Amino acid sequence: MSDENITEDVALESRLTEQEYFRPPTDFVGQANVSDPGIYDRFDENYPEAFEEYAELFDWDEHWDEVLDDSNPPFYEWFTGGKLNASYNCIDRHLDERPNQAAFIWEGTDTDERETITYRDLYNRVNAVAASLRDVGVQEDDVVTCHLPMLPALPVTMLSCARIGAPHSEVFAGFSAQALADRIDDAGSDVVVTCDGYYRRGDFLNHKEKCDEALELADSDVETVLLWTRHDELHPEVEISDDDPYVLVDDLLAENDRARVDPVSRDAEDPLFLMYTSGTTGKPKGCQHRTGGYLSYVTATAKYVLDIKPEDTYWCAADIGWITGHSYIVYGPLALGTTSVMYEDTPDHPHKGRIWDMAERYDVDIFHTSPTAVRMFMKWGAEYVEDYDFDFRHMTTVGEPIQPEAWLWYYKYIGGEDAVIVDTWWQTETGGHLITNLPALEDMKPGSAGKACPGIQPAIVDDNGDALEEATGRAGNLVIQRPWPGMLQTVYGDDERFIDEYWREFSDVDSDDAEDWVYKAGDGAVHERDGYFRILGRLDDVMNVAGHRLGTMELESAVAEVEAVAEAAVAAREDAEKGEVPDVYAVLREGIEESQAVYDDIVAAVEDEIGKFARPANVVFVDDLPKTRSGKIMRRLLENISNDDELGDTTTLRDPSVPEDIRDQVRGD
Ligand code: WT7
Repeated sequence: MSDENITEDVALESRLTEQEYFRPPTDFVGQANVSDPGIYDRFDENYPEAFEEYAELFDWDEHWDEVLDDSNPPFYEWFTGGKLNASYNCIDRHLDERPNQAAFIWEGTDTDERETITYRDLYNRVNAVAASLRDVGVQEDDVVTCHLPMLPALPVTMLSCARIGAPHSEVFAGFSAQALADRIDDAGSDVVVTCDGYYRRGDFLNHKEKCDEALELADSDVETVLLWTRHDELHPEVEISDDDPYVLVDDLLAENDRARVDPVSRDAEDPLFLMYTSGTTGKPKGCQHRTGGYLSYVTATAKYVLDIKPEDTYWCAADIGWITGHSYIVYGPLALGTTSVMYEDTPDHPHKGRIWDMAERYDVDIFHTSPTAVRMFMKWGAEYVEDYDFDFRHMTTVGEPIQPEAWLWYYKYIGGEDAVIVDTWWQTETGGHLITNLPALEDMKPGSAGKACPGIQPAIVDDNGDALEEATGRAGNLVIQRPWPGMLQTVYGDDERFIDEYWREFSDVDSDDAEDWVYKAGDGAVHERDGYFRILGRLDDVMNVAGHRLGTMELESAVAEVEAVAEAAVAAREDAEKGEVPDVYAVLREGIEESQAVYDDIVAAVEDEIGKFARPANVVFVDDLPKTRSGKIMRRLLENISNDDELGDTTTLRDPSVPEDIRDQVRGD
């Protein structure tokens, strides 16, 4: 969804018919980490102090003075005066009880390449890497940009940064050199961490070349790049010359093999990491997450929502390069002392049963994936699942709305009709889950994320910011009315932008009273009559491609790089598998003919500027774009064309025939 006419867009609200409820199985309820419904009242009546329960889940070096300091909204501070270290809490404090328990079971592209990393191993590796980071000059508060795929090196590097108090900024490995360069520059990193290669569908990719190119493109002078190697030998296409800033991690580790690095005691408000995400304007935003509040929030939600226990084998099949992996592969699960599965390659490699084969072999109890993955499994068919003997107790979906059909398929074929499902709504900015059921307490309803998490106060407001009556089933803008510990601190280096993007629209920004500040999620949602929230999707110019968030503007500026293009707009098209895919509408410069070559240039530009995962589904060459009289592109109309929906109101257009012509062209009339 896009453009200003929110209420019109969300009037599509009731496309879903009322769904039936599914009860959590009695066995599940009997063992759940939270089975006392009093938790909701406790958090409401005792807000914000009740969040102390979350912070008490781990060891602090110094106790906090105040749970929430809301004197300078929206720059809230959590657990002020408290001190702790995230790596200590994820590793060291488990060493007495479970030194030999696996923290990670990692599997490479080949099924026979496996690595079990115990908490003791993790401790040794993280100490050695932390010492190596110091050797190359990384100091407390330096932002280290990482560009690592799903190798043990990734969580190890993140935790090593956390150990010495250097915020990490991990850039998903699928991002292009340009995207990496932009993030290095924005974060001002002197040190970057990458690897020589990794496997995609069995092919050994040269990953270092992206970093080579990023160093050329970046304005910053990166002093050192630490290079992990996937095998003992370097990737056959990778070379390092003497004047390169690359240093082999293996060489540093050889020196630091038995090093011990004391975890740096961090202020609760010191940043733990940055995670860049797409917004409505061109440049991605560095969401800055704090140490104490973030760790508390993700640990507690991993325990209560995901029902993780130390003795479980847990598998979140997301990539650590996105927020899901940070919160619910690395920080939450490790803080709870559980065992996680990590897998390098894609779910269809070498066959479409790979995930279930692994689930059987490792006896996974808790499984976590996206609606896109569920739709893909559903398309492949149940026959790929049936051969494997696994038994999940709990399953999660995250990242996009899940259609009831896909939910029911997940429930039946993957969950065997006896696993609970939580549909978790949250965002890069929120750090952890905000809307989802506590699985033992509420019945499941396909397609609805469920109730607000304890202490969280969502509301639906109209375009003027007036709250709709609760639980009436009307659609509007989803907002969060009270701060929570997992929320971002700011947009890195840009407090104004933080206010503009998340607060200005629905807050009284001149007020010092936290009650006047309301967080805008950017999503449309319905608060249903039973109190469950159903998330409809983004209302701003952000699309969700296979669970990956992409800004329309970012895509458009990539397309604008192509010489032949005079002007372009991008619209989201609904896709049975990926949720949404980008369609490009391009006007070519005078005298340039449309051709396959231009088409390919446009696709290549998007792949180069952002990454292959953002590849446009269609490029449509048009004579003009639909614009308002003031010259604003009406992307909503293009979206309606892409989705073959009714065009809707075109009266505000400069030339109402433009969208009609495009529609005829797309339909082939
Ligand atoms: C956007 C945030 C949450 C981590 C992964 C994505 C959409 C997220 C759900 C859900 C419907 C969802 C929203 C949100 N979204 N979870 N359960 N149901 N939509 O993080 O990249 O920051 O994207 O993903 O549109 O705003 P993200």
